[in-house]
Amino acid sequence: MNTEFELAESYARKLDLENSLAKFRERFYVPDQTMYMDGNSLGLMCKESRSSVLRVLDEWATLGIRGWLEAKPPWFYFAEQLGSMCASLVGAAADEVMVTGTTTVNIHQLVNTFYRPIGERRKILADELDFPSDIYALKSILKLRGANPDIDLILAPSKDGRILDERELVELMDDNVSLVFLPSVLYRSGQLLDMQYLTEEAHRRDIVIGFDCCHSVGSVPHHFDTWGVDFATWCSYKYLNAGPGSTAFLYLDKKHFSREPALAGWFGYVKERQFDMSLEFEPSRNAGGWQISSPSILSSAPLEASLKVTLEAGIEAIRKESLRMTAYLMYLIDHSLSQSPYNFSIGTPREDQRRGGHVAIEHEEGLRIGEALRSRGVIPDFRPPNILRIAPIPLYNTYHEIWQVTQHLKDIIDKGEYERYSKQRRAVS
Ligand SMILES: Cc1ncc(COP(=O)(O)O)c(C=O)c1O
Repeated sequence: MNTEFELAESYARKLDLENSLAKFRERFYVPDQTMYMDGNSLGLMCKESRSSVLRVLDEWATLGIRGWLEAKPPWFYFAEQLGSMCASLVGAAADEVMVTGTTTVNIHQLVNTFYRPIGERRKILADELDFPSDIYALKSILKLRGANPDIDLILAPSKDGRILDERELVELMDDNVSLVFLPSVLYRSGQLLDMQYLTEEAHRRDIVIGFDCCHSVGSVPHHFDTWGVDFATWCSYKYLNAGPGSTAFLYLDKKHFSREPALAGWFGYVKERQFDMSLEFEPSRNAGGWQISSPSILSSAPLEASLKVTLEAGIEAIRKESLRMTAYLMYLIDHSLSQSPYNFSIGTPREDQRRGGHVAIEHEEGLRIGEALRSRGVIPDFRPPNILRIAPIPLYNTYHEIWQVTQHLKDIIDKGEYERYSKQRRAVS
């Protein structure tokens, strides 16, 4: 059990004074009277995003179609520019990262590109704790390719419904496996998988491996090139704060640039010749080749600003502070709320190298406690069956807020306040 912190409110204030990223909070719109702990579902809006969206709207109003080349930066190269800005966050070269599509569409694009069943080697390995959309995508890909998901999709089991054992994952990488697709951070427990180890072991067995990094990019440093990861995709609306439904990213190791993108579209065409309008597809020989359609300029605009803020803060500094914040939250739960009558427990791994940016707080009344938190101005999210996810974000949350969240949890139990709420889940929780 972690003992490096203290329980007193004054200690939270002291941690805030030591927080080297505290100055970034004023760069964000923090909703009034709110402790926003939901950055792992939808990050807050940074103030500069408003100006970048307004700039694009003005460009559209004044330039019309000329904006594709005359806007600053030109819309035609905007996705490439944002991709290269993000490359340092994931340890990639500028042309290995592209802003395009959405996470699930990118999974279809990348897995279809890399899934090459040959002879007995025709299975895809994923896991039973995966985000559902990933599994829907993998199953539909297998069906479209004439395979049987009941046989050809292996879902690595978890012993406790929270955590995956990397060694057991590797044991499942046998001669029948063609491709492995896993999350970097599990969306419920917050476990961070050892991507380097898994990649090395997959490659030792000639298996291609990719990752869904929605819950890690912007929170955890990645070293895709060094680790040798084949491909990855991630969204921009969680830790990258680019807004609801904003454009996603994809990464391809440059050794794969000569492959044929599975889902071809005109924005994947070699840029200099795209407007030749040839009917023969000639993909860009970089991650841009995996674009399909026109980039969504309006949804990329907020990302431009929020990426700049993340880069300015520095991913190593963000990770350091995030680990301290989540460790502090776990300490407070362990030391003040784990015993009866509170009975909160932590479902997230304790080791720094094994957790991402959120903490899974488990309680049998998690759903109703979450509702009580909301009415007190604390925004968590809830994932069935009993998990309150709390994501303290170093760019805009404070240690004092974390301390207050635990006081609210205590008070809600002391007063039986959760009993007032329905056991019915909202449409978005
Ligand atoms: C881990 C993970 N993968 C995939 C998705 C789906 O993303 P999208 O709606 O961009 O396809 C989400 C959405 O929250 C997610 O958390």
